[in-house]
Amino acid sequence: MKKIAIFISGTGSNMESLISKSRSADLDIDFLVVSDKPDAAGIERAKALGVKVHILPEASDSWRMSSMNEKFIADLLEKESVDFILLAGFMKIVSKKIIDKFKMKIINIHPSLLPSFRGKDAQKQAFEYGVKVSGCTVHFIDEEVDTGPIILQFPADISECKSADEVKNIILNIEHEAYFAALNIILEGRWRIEGRRVILND
Ligand code: GRF
Repeated sequence: MKKIAIFISGTGSNMESLISKSRSADLDIDFLVVSDKPDAAGIERAKALGVKVHILPEASDSWRMSSMNEKFIADLLEKESVDFILLAGFMKIVSKKIIDKFKMKIINIHPSLLPSFRGKDAQKQAFEYGVKVSGCTVHFIDEEVDTGPIILQFPADISECKSADEVKNIILNIEHEAYFAALNIILEGRWRIEGRRVILND
């Protein structure tokens, strides 16, 4: 059995999809959810799935993690013997200490084809730039934002989209597929790293 912590700050649709798909596929995973926001909509979704939710003790809008929250996370990960961390719309930068402890075990999903449109509102950035194809990227976390080695990318045709919200919806649907596909690769260890290239095995 693997223990997986999903970190959220908002709606939690990726979190919900990962848990539901894992259960449908009978994967042997025990999930727990961590939210930095006590009022994140995803908290109720996690509870409805019967998953335990841990809320960071210190609320703040900063991207940086406070030392109290960092310690809370470090203790929780240790106590729960967490194997992997999946960031799913988590709006805080994970501290170096935690990254060092969980090397290549922290994964994120970003709603663009990186390295295009890093950072906030990637779907709006893509819409306003006028790209015809965007998509999502599942990648390992490193110390920068949205720069870690790429595990998977799924493209989406956004050429007919009339608004950034439309782009968001199209990409969110493929995010759910991509994140679950990446989770399977990680669980089965079907990858190796060469430089910053993640090579997938069959
Ligand atoms: C997703 O678009 C994800 O790529 C980004 O934040 C959003 C989270 O959505 N990092 P949800 O909370 O999973 O619905």
